Amino acid sequence: MAAPRMIIPPADPHAAYLAQREAIDAAIRRVLDSGWYILGREVESFEREFAAWLGAAHGIGVANGTDAVELALRSIGVGPGDEVIAPAHTATATIAAIEHAGAVPVLVDIEAETFGLDPEKVQATVRARAASRRLKAIVVVHLYGHPARIDELARIAREHDLRLIEDCAQAHGGRWMGQAVGTLGDVAAFSFYPTKNLGALGDGGAVVTGDSDVAARLRQLREYGWRERYRSDEPGINSRLDEMQAAILRAKLGRLSEDNGRRRAIAARYDATLRACGIVPPVVRVGAVHAYHQYAVLHPDRERWRAELRAHDVGSAVLYPLALHQQAAYAARLPVGVGGLATSERVCREVLCLPVHPQLEEHEIEAVARAVAATVATGR
Ligand SMILES: Cc1ncc(COP(=O)(O)O)c(C=O)c1O
Repeated sequence: MAAPRMIIPPADPHAAYLAQREAIDAAIRRVLDSGWYILGREVESFEREFAAWLGAAHGIGVANGTDAVELALRSIGVGPGDEVIAPAHTATATIAAIEHAGAVPVLVDIEAETFGLDPEKVQATVRARAASRRLKAIVVVHLYGHPARIDELARIAREHDLRLIEDCAQAHGGRWMGQAVGTLGDVAAFSFYPTKNLGALGDGGAVVTGDSDVAARLRQLREYGWRERYRSDEPGINSRLDEMQAAILRAKLGRLSEDNGRRRAIAARYDATLRACGIVPPVVRVGAVHAYHQYAVLHPDRERWRAELRAHDVGSAVLYPLALHQQAAYAARLPVGVGGLATSERVCREVLCLPVHPQLEEHEIEAVARAVAATVATGR
């Protein structure tokens, strides 16, 4: 019988575990033997270490990235009746979290270069909705690991007295003008879903802020609004990070900078391949450091390209095939910003993500580059 064909996967959390197996197994054993399993010393240490790695004052561990966005919003006073600008091309989680906070997402278009919110359309939307006085915040998503146009978006937020939340679920290690994403707005949310640049072996998330009052409120909100055990100051939720995930994340945090460097080296190899084919590689703005959670390329005949890559044993991912206003759960229900959502729709039709995770072997990177060179021009 012929051996099964090996497809190079677009993400490989098992390989990430194997690359640090001893340290992770030791971390798990340490927690098992400690007798303390939720919100303990490992969580406190991870919160400190992760915040320090970012250059942030406070980190608060939570159960997942969706909760992190919801609690980030609630911690700065965004709630029922408020409107929040967010991109139409993002993980469903971003939009779900805004609704969980009781607010109304206003979907605004992205720009195709950075895959982040288009500042001109944000500006126009803010002006158009000013009269209602309901608009409270902008959720900026640093999609695929590239920082969104945070400088312009922060200026708009300042000018109109809006709060700025960064969704950094895909951007651990992204930087803008030397500063880590997650430290550029009022409060930031991270996910540690297993495939993320910093991935747990289960669910996990964190909220990061420079404001000690916001941090204190977050610690209450993540556990029933407790000021102290059994004393709730306001309604909260259960969004605790467990000790096992925190210990695993501490082990993996030690290698995150190196892993991100590896992602950038792989991206540089693909950039060279695309340039040699006369195709512009993914944009990295001057002043930006890309975290390459994904290596995202637009192709007008994406499905055909994807099938051809697969025929060369190269897997790929499509994040995301539908924009939020095209999803049954949200269609015709959410307000849309000025300028429409044509770019979000086009990106959803054309985007394809190549394998860029740090455990790729040299021969796999070469195989991806060769397959790209052989196929990328077809259908363009
Ligand atoms: C941009 C973005 N925001 C939020 C989330 C939600 O994170 P989680 O899956 O940990 O709830 C994710 C990850 O899925 C994401 O990619």
